Amino acid sequence: MDLIQKIKEEKKRLNAVLVAHFYQEGAIQDLADFVGDSLAMAQYCETSEAQTLVVCGVRFMAETAKILNPEKKVLLPDLDAGCSLADSCQPKAFEYFKNKLKDPYVVMYINSNPEIKALSDVICTSSNAEKIIASVPPDRTILFGPDRHLGRYLKKKSGRDMVLWQGVCIVHETFNEEKLLKLMLEHPQAQVIAHPECEENILNHAHFVGSTAALLKYSQENKAQEFIVLTESGILHQMQKASPHKTFIQGPDDSGCNCAECPYMRLNTLEKLYECLKNESPEIIMAESLRLEAQKPLRKMLELSR
Ligand code: 13P
Ligand code: SF4
Repeated sequence: MDLIQKIKEEKKRLNAVLVAHFYQEGAIQDLADFVGDSLAMAQYCETSEAQTLVVCGVRFMAETAKILNPEKKVLLPDLDAGCSLADSCQPKAFEYFKNKLKDPYVVMYINSNPEIKALSDVICTSSNAEKIIASVPPDRTILFGPDRHLGRYLKKKSGRDMVLWQGVCIVHETFNEEKLLKLMLEHPQAQVIAHPECEENILNHAHFVGSTAALLKYSQENKAQEFIVLTESGILHQMQKASPHKTFIQGPDDSGCNCAECPYMRLNTLEKLYECLKNESPEIIMAESLRLEAQKPLRKMLELSR
Protein backbone atom coordinates (compact mmCIF):
# COMPACT_ATOMS: atom_id res chain seq x y z
CA MET A 1 0.00 0.00 0.00
CA ASP A 2 1.44 3.42 -0.79
CA LEU A 3 2.01 6.04 1.89
CA ILE A 4 -0.91 8.26 0.85
CA GLN A 5 -3.30 5.32 1.06
CA LYS A 6 -1.88 4.29 4.44
CA ILE A 7 -2.38 7.84 5.78
CA LYS A 8 -5.98 7.83 4.55
CA GLU A 9 -6.65 4.50 6.29
CA GLU A 10 -5.12 5.63 9.61
CA LYS A 11 -7.04 8.88 9.43
CA LYS A 12 -10.26 6.93 8.90
CA ARG A 13 -9.44 4.50 11.72
CA LEU A 14 -8.95 7.39 14.14
CA ASN A 15 -11.85 9.38 12.76
CA ALA A 16 -9.39 12.25 12.74
CA VAL A 17 -9.60 15.56 10.97
CA LEU A 18 -6.50 16.87 9.22
CA VAL A 19 -6.07 20.65 9.28
CA ALA A 20 -3.21 22.09 7.24
CA HIS A 21 -1.57 25.46 6.66
CA PHE A 22 -0.80 26.79 3.17
CA TYR A 23 2.94 26.44 3.88
CA GLN A 24 2.83 22.65 4.06
CA GLU A 25 4.11 20.61 1.14
CA GLY A 26 1.52 20.16 -1.62
CA ALA A 27 0.90 16.45 -0.91
CA ILE A 28 -0.04 17.21 2.72
CA GLN A 29 -2.34 20.06 1.65
CA ASP A 30 -4.07 17.68 -0.77
CA LEU A 31 -4.72 15.14 2.00
CA ALA A 32 -6.16 17.71 4.42
CA ASP A 33 -9.83 18.12 5.28
CA PHE A 34 -9.20 21.83 5.61
CA VAL A 35 -6.41 24.13 4.39
CA GLY A 36 -6.24 27.73 5.54
CA ASP A 37 -4.39 30.61 7.18
CA SER A 38 -3.80 30.73 10.94
CA LEU A 39 -7.13 32.40 11.71
CA ALA A 40 -9.17 30.03 9.55
CA MET A 41 -7.36 27.01 11.05
CA ALA A 42 -8.21 28.17 14.58
CA GLN A 43 -11.84 28.81 13.61
CA TYR A 44 -12.12 25.43 11.87
CA CYS A 45 -10.65 23.57 14.86
CA GLU A 46 -13.00 25.41 17.21
CA THR A 47 -16.10 24.24 15.35
CA SER A 48 -14.95 20.76 14.29
CA GLU A 49 -16.76 17.83 15.90
CA ALA A 50 -13.86 15.40 15.47
CA GLN A 51 -12.26 14.13 18.65
CA THR A 52 -8.79 14.01 17.09
CA LEU A 53 -7.31 17.00 15.30
CA VAL A 54 -4.09 16.53 13.36
CA VAL A 55 -2.57 19.96 12.80
CA CYS A 56 -0.15 20.07 9.90
CA GLY A 57 1.49 23.40 10.52
CA VAL A 58 3.78 24.71 13.23
CA ARG A 59 3.56 24.27 16.97
CA PHE A 60 1.75 27.51 17.80
CA MET A 61 -1.04 26.44 15.43
CA ALA A 62 -1.43 23.08 17.19
CA GLU A 63 -1.23 24.78 20.60
CA THR A 64 -3.96 27.19 19.53
CA ALA A 65 -6.14 24.22 18.59
CA LYS A 66 -5.49 22.68 22.02
CA ILE A 67 -6.16 25.91 23.91
CA LEU A 68 -9.56 26.14 22.21
CA ASN A 69 -10.37 22.43 22.43
CA PRO A 70 -9.08 20.95 25.70
CA GLU A 71 -11.29 17.87 25.38
CA LYS A 72 -9.83 16.94 21.99
CA LYS A 73 -6.64 15.12 21.18
CA VAL A 74 -4.41 17.46 19.17
CA LEU A 75 -1.55 15.87 17.22
CA LEU A 76 1.38 17.54 15.45
CA PRO A 77 3.57 15.35 13.19
CA ASP A 78 6.81 16.95 14.44
CA LEU A 79 6.92 18.68 17.83
CA ASP A 80 10.07 20.55 16.77
CA ALA A 81 8.08 22.47 14.17
CA GLY A 82 8.49 25.82 15.92
CA CYS A 83 8.55 29.38 14.59
CA SER A 84 11.31 32.01 14.74
CA LEU A 85 8.77 34.62 15.85
CA ALA A 86 7.48 32.54 18.75
CA ASP A 87 11.08 31.64 19.73
CA SER A 88 12.10 35.32 19.77
CA CYS A 89 9.66 36.17 22.52
CA GLN A 90 10.26 34.34 25.79
CA PRO A 91 8.05 34.92 28.87
CA LYS A 92 10.61 36.34 31.33
CA ALA A 93 12.04 38.88 28.88
CA PHE A 94 8.61 39.83 27.60
CA GLU A 95 7.18 40.30 31.09
CA TYR A 96 10.16 42.50 31.99
CA PHE A 97 9.63 44.60 28.85
CA LYS A 98 5.88 44.86 29.48
CA ASN A 99 6.41 45.97 33.09
CA LYS A 100 8.67 48.79 31.94
CA LEU A 101 5.72 50.38 30.11
CA LYS A 102 2.84 52.22 31.76
CA ASP A 103 -0.26 50.01 31.55
CA PRO A 104 0.19 48.84 27.94
CA TYR A 105 -2.55 47.03 26.00
CA VAL A 106 -0.90 43.89 24.65
CA VAL A 107 -1.89 42.86 21.13
CA MET A 108 -0.06 39.63 20.42
CA TYR A 109 0.40 37.96 17.04
CA ILE A 110 -0.83 34.37 17.08
CA ASN A 111 2.75 33.29 16.20
CA SER A 112 3.62 33.13 19.91
CA ASN A 113 3.91 30.62 22.74
CA PRO A 114 0.99 29.96 25.14
CA GLU A 115 2.93 31.63 28.03
CA ILE A 116 3.14 34.82 25.96
CA LYS A 117 -0.53 34.62 24.99
CA ALA A 118 -1.31 34.36 28.70
CA LEU A 119 0.43 37.74 29.20
CA SER A 120 -1.63 39.40 26.45
CA ASP A 121 -4.94 41.26 26.22
CA VAL A 122 -5.89 40.09 22.76
CA ILE A 123 -4.44 37.92 19.98
CA CYS A 124 -4.44 38.76 16.28
CA THR A 125 -3.43 37.12 13.02
CA SER A 126 -2.36 38.83 9.83
CA SER A 127 -5.93 38.61 8.49
CA ASN A 128 -7.66 40.39 11.38
CA ALA A 129 -4.84 42.54 12.83
CA GLU A 130 -6.18 45.89 11.56
CA LYS A 131 -9.63 45.15 13.02
CA ILE A 132 -8.15 44.04 16.35
CA ILE A 133 -5.98 47.19 16.59
CA ALA A 134 -9.05 49.32 15.85
CA SER A 135 -10.84 47.70 18.82
CA VAL A 136 -8.20 48.86 21.33
CA PRO A 137 -9.37 51.83 23.46
CA PRO A 138 -7.84 54.98 21.87
CA ASP A 139 -6.24 56.19 25.10
CA ARG A 140 -4.15 53.00 25.54
CA THR A 141 -0.59 52.50 24.29
CA ILE A 142 -0.37 49.26 22.33
CA LEU A 143 2.44 46.81 22.96
CA PHE A 144 2.64 44.62 19.86
CA GLY A 145 4.69 41.46 19.45
CA PRO A 146 6.54 39.50 18.40
CA ASP A 147 6.87 40.54 14.71
CA ARG A 148 8.45 43.96 14.24
CA HIS A 149 7.65 44.08 10.53
CA LEU A 150 3.95 43.34 10.95
CA GLY A 151 3.98 45.75 13.89
CA ARG A 152 5.54 48.55 11.83
CA TYR A 153 3.04 47.90 9.01
CA LEU A 154 0.10 48.10 11.45
CA LYS A 155 1.48 51.21 13.13
CA LYS A 156 1.65 52.97 9.76
CA LYS A 157 -1.83 51.78 8.71
CA SER A 158 -3.59 52.61 11.97
CA GLY A 159 -1.63 55.69 13.04
CA ARG A 160 -1.71 54.30 16.59
CA ASP A 161 0.93 54.69 19.25
CA MET A 162 2.57 51.25 19.29
CA VAL A 163 5.62 49.84 21.04
CA LEU A 164 7.07 46.91 19.10
CA TRP A 165 8.80 43.72 20.21
CA GLN A 166 11.73 43.15 17.85
CA GLY A 167 11.08 39.62 16.53
CA VAL A 168 11.38 38.60 12.88
CA CYS A 169 10.34 35.76 10.63
CA ILE A 170 13.46 34.12 9.21
CA VAL A 171 11.66 33.36 5.94
CA HIS A 172 10.05 36.72 5.18
CA GLU A 173 13.14 38.64 6.19
CA THR A 174 15.25 37.08 3.46
CA PHE A 175 13.41 38.50 0.44
CA ASN A 176 15.83 40.64 -1.56
CA GLU A 177 14.79 44.05 -2.93
CA GLU A 178 17.40 44.29 -5.67
CA LYS A 179 16.52 40.89 -7.08
CA LEU A 180 12.83 41.75 -6.76
CA LEU A 181 13.26 44.94 -8.81
CA LYS A 182 15.06 42.96 -11.50
CA LEU A 183 12.25 40.41 -11.57
CA MET A 184 9.65 43.19 -11.80
CA LEU A 185 11.48 44.61 -14.83
CA GLU A 186 11.43 41.18 -16.47
CA HIS A 187 7.70 40.81 -15.72
CA PRO A 188 6.25 44.34 -16.02
CA GLN A 189 2.64 43.10 -16.06
CA ALA A 190 2.99 41.01 -12.90
CA GLN A 191 1.17 41.91 -9.70
CA VAL A 192 3.50 41.89 -6.69
CA ILE A 193 1.79 40.39 -3.64
CA ALA A 194 3.36 40.14 -0.19
CA HIS A 195 2.77 38.98 3.38
CA PRO A 196 3.05 41.77 6.00
CA GLU A 197 5.87 39.88 7.76
CA CYS A 198 8.16 41.14 4.93
CA GLU A 199 10.50 44.09 5.46
CA GLU A 200 9.31 47.60 4.56
CA ASN A 201 11.56 47.91 1.48
CA ILE A 202 9.80 44.83 0.05
CA LEU A 203 6.26 45.89 1.03
CA ASN A 204 6.86 49.28 -0.65
CA HIS A 205 6.82 47.49 -4.03
CA ALA A 206 3.72 45.39 -3.37
CA HIS A 207 0.45 45.99 -5.20
CA PHE A 208 -1.27 44.02 -2.44
CA VAL A 209 -0.34 43.07 1.12
CA GLY A 210 -2.25 40.44 3.10
CA SER A 211 -2.41 37.18 5.03
CA THR A 212 -1.88 33.93 3.16
CA ALA A 213 -5.64 33.50 2.66
CA ALA A 214 -5.98 37.10 1.44
CA LEU A 215 -3.08 36.65 -1.02
CA LEU A 216 -4.72 33.51 -2.40
CA LYS A 217 -8.07 35.28 -2.81
CA TYR A 218 -6.41 38.27 -4.50
CA SER A 219 -4.59 35.98 -6.94
CA GLN A 220 -7.93 34.41 -7.90
CA GLU A 221 -9.87 37.65 -8.25
CA ASN A 222 -7.31 39.93 -9.86
CA LYS A 223 -7.30 39.96 -13.66
CA ALA A 224 -3.50 39.83 -13.97
CA GLN A 225 -2.01 36.70 -15.47
CA GLU A 226 1.31 36.87 -13.60
CA PHE A 227 2.02 37.25 -9.88
CA ILE A 228 5.28 37.65 -7.98
CA VAL A 229 4.59 36.07 -4.59
CA LEU A 230 6.49 37.23 -1.50
CA THR A 231 5.67 34.71 1.15
CA GLU A 232 6.51 31.08 1.92
CA SER A 233 6.48 29.06 -1.31
CA GLY A 234 3.92 26.45 -0.11
CA ILE A 235 1.12 28.89 -0.96
CA LEU A 236 1.94 28.59 -4.67
CA HIS A 237 0.43 25.11 -4.62
CA GLN A 238 -3.06 26.46 -3.81
CA MET A 239 -2.66 29.50 -6.07
CA GLN A 240 -1.78 27.32 -9.04
CA LYS A 241 -4.58 24.88 -8.21
CA ALA A 242 -7.15 27.69 -8.01
CA SER A 243 -5.92 29.48 -11.17
CA PRO A 244 -4.21 26.88 -13.38
CA HIS A 245 -3.96 29.26 -16.35
CA LYS A 246 -2.06 31.95 -14.35
CA THR A 247 1.69 32.15 -13.68
CA PHE A 248 3.01 32.40 -10.13
CA ILE A 249 6.62 33.40 -9.59
CA GLN A 250 8.28 32.84 -6.24
CA GLY A 251 9.74 36.07 -4.86
CA PRO A 252 13.58 36.06 -4.81
CA ASP A 253 15.32 35.65 -1.48
CA ASP A 254 18.80 35.46 0.00
CA SER A 255 18.47 32.04 1.59
CA GLY A 256 20.92 29.43 0.35
CA CYS A 257 18.24 27.49 -1.50
CA ASN A 258 16.33 30.50 -2.89
CA CYS A 259 13.23 28.42 -2.16
CA ALA A 260 11.48 30.57 0.49
CA GLU A 261 10.59 27.46 2.46
CA CYS A 262 9.97 27.69 6.19
CA PRO A 263 12.33 25.12 7.74
CA TYR A 264 9.91 24.63 10.64
CA MET A 265 6.83 24.08 8.50
CA ARG A 266 8.72 21.65 6.32
CA LEU A 267 9.64 19.43 9.27
CA ASN A 268 6.24 17.85 8.79
CA THR A 269 6.52 15.18 6.12
CA LEU A 270 4.17 12.49 4.78
CA GLU A 271 6.20 9.85 6.65
CA LYS A 272 5.89 11.73 9.97
CA LEU A 273 2.20 12.33 9.35
CA TYR A 274 1.69 8.59 8.89
CA GLU A 275 3.66 7.75 12.07
CA CYS A 276 1.76 10.41 13.98
CA LEU A 277 -1.61 8.94 12.99
CA LYS A 278 -0.45 5.37 13.63
CA ASN A 279 0.99 6.12 17.10
CA GLU A 280 -1.44 8.93 18.02
CA SER A 281 1.65 10.89 18.96
CA PRO A 282 3.26 13.47 19.27
CA GLU A 283 0.38 15.02 21.14
CA ILE A 284 0.08 18.60 22.43
CA ILE A 285 -0.17 18.51 26.22
CA MET A 286 -0.68 21.69 28.23
CA ALA A 287 -1.15 22.55 31.89
CA GLU A 288 -4.79 23.51 32.45
CA SER A 289 -3.89 26.70 34.33
CA LEU A 290 -1.79 27.91 31.38
CA ARG A 291 -4.45 26.89 28.88
CA LEU A 292 -7.11 28.88 30.73
CA GLU A 293 -4.96 32.02 30.79
CA ALA A 294 -3.98 31.71 27.13
CA GLN A 295 -7.58 31.07 26.15
CA LYS A 296 -8.86 34.49 27.29
CA PRO A 297 -7.11 36.70 24.67
CA LEU A 298 -7.63 34.04 22.01
CA ARG A 299 -11.39 33.91 22.63
CA LYS A 300 -11.46 37.70 22.57
CA MET A 301 -9.87 37.61 19.12
CA LEU A 302 -12.43 35.08 17.87
CA GLU A 303 -15.29 37.22 19.24
CA LEU A 304 -13.91 40.32 17.52
CA SER A 305 -13.45 38.39 14.25
CA ARG A 306 -17.05 37.19 13.94
P1 13P B 1 -1.06 33.52 8.00
O1 13P B 1 -1.84 33.77 9.23
O2 13P B 1 -1.17 34.62 7.00
O3 13P B 1 -1.42 32.20 7.42
O4 13P B 1 0.48 33.50 8.37
C1 13P B 1 1.06 32.54 9.21
C2 13P B 1 2.50 32.57 9.17
O5 13P B 1 3.18 31.86 9.89
C3 13P B 1 3.14 33.50 8.25
O6 13P B 1 4.51 33.29 8.21
FE1 SF4 C 1 7.17 31.33 11.72
FE2 SF4 C 1 8.08 32.53 9.55
FE3 SF4 C 1 7.76 29.92 9.54
FE4 SF4 C 1 5.61 31.55 9.53
S1 SF4 C 1 7.13 31.31 7.92
S2 SF4 C 1 5.90 29.73 10.78
S3 SF4 C 1 6.37 33.20 10.81
S4 SF4 C 1 9.21 31.06 10.82
